[in-house]
Amino acid sequence: MEIGTIGAGAFAQAFAKRVLKAGHKVKLSNSRGPGSLREIVNHLGPGATAATKEEAVACEMVLLAVPWDNVPETLASLPKWKNQILIDGANPFHGQAGDFRPADVGNLSTSQLVAALAPGARVVKAFNHLLVPNLEAEPVVNEARRVAFISADDDGAKKRVQTLLENCDYSVVDLGDLRDGGLIQQAGGPLAGRDFFERGEYHK
Ligand SMILES: NC(=O)c1ccc[n+]([C@@H]2O[C@H](COP(=O)([O-])OP(=O)(O)OC[C@H]3O[C@@H](n4cnc5c(N)ncnc54)[C@H](OP(=O)(O)O)[C@@H]3O)[C@@H](O)[C@H]2O)c1
Repeated sequence: MEIGTIGAGAFAQAFAKRVLKAGHKVKLSNSRGPGSLREIVNHLGPGATAATKEEAVACEMVLLAVPWDNVPETLASLPKWKNQILIDGANPFHGQAGDFRPADVGNLSTSQLVAALAPGARVVKAFNHLLVPNLEAEPVVNEARRVAFISADDDGAKKRVQTLLENCDYSVVDLGDLRDGGLIQQAGGPLAGRDFFERGEYHK
């Protein structure tokens, strides 16, 4: 599968390493255009390409990996969604990466807000509770699999992302819909940043 990323910073690059390792292809994009991504895609290796945002969004699955304050303008700048799966990886913090001033998102989960700003996309919250070092680390340690959480309102889209996570060797836990599941795993929720493993023999 070919997966696009909107944003090509620390989180998108860690995600790219993980899915490339599982045999997928990744089209990375940012605000400055493909020319600025040459070094990053060379470093990621075969399967990674630099793309425009439009090219990245044309993939059947797309990761949203931009700072929270940039989410509205970023989504507004994209072509209309035509049923692609949008994996919401954004955390509700003001400022740039590493700045942890929480943004007020009212009663909705952040993914519900993202879904409202991306009509036509099938939004799935996934990969997001993992900190970059945990996402970069091997998912299987001593035959225990790192746990990855997933939430969505669209069951078909959720199943597709679950399969992607399982391809990457995670043990997937379905937390339900975008609201309840989203609130549990997003920044500020009880599962955010936690690093769990499921014991038991695991042979790929
Ligand atoms: N770091 C973590 O542990 C972690 C884990 C999970 C989730 N997240 C979340 O993932 C998101 C990104 O975090 P990060 O650490 O990867 O940040 P980062 O390293 O600062 O990267 C941000 C990326 O967003 C791009 N961007 C900004 N505005 C854009 C726009 N309008 N259109 C397209 N691309 C745009 C930037 O591109 P330019 O440089 O070209 O502007 C850059 O590639 C945040 O919401 C963060 O909370 C982070």
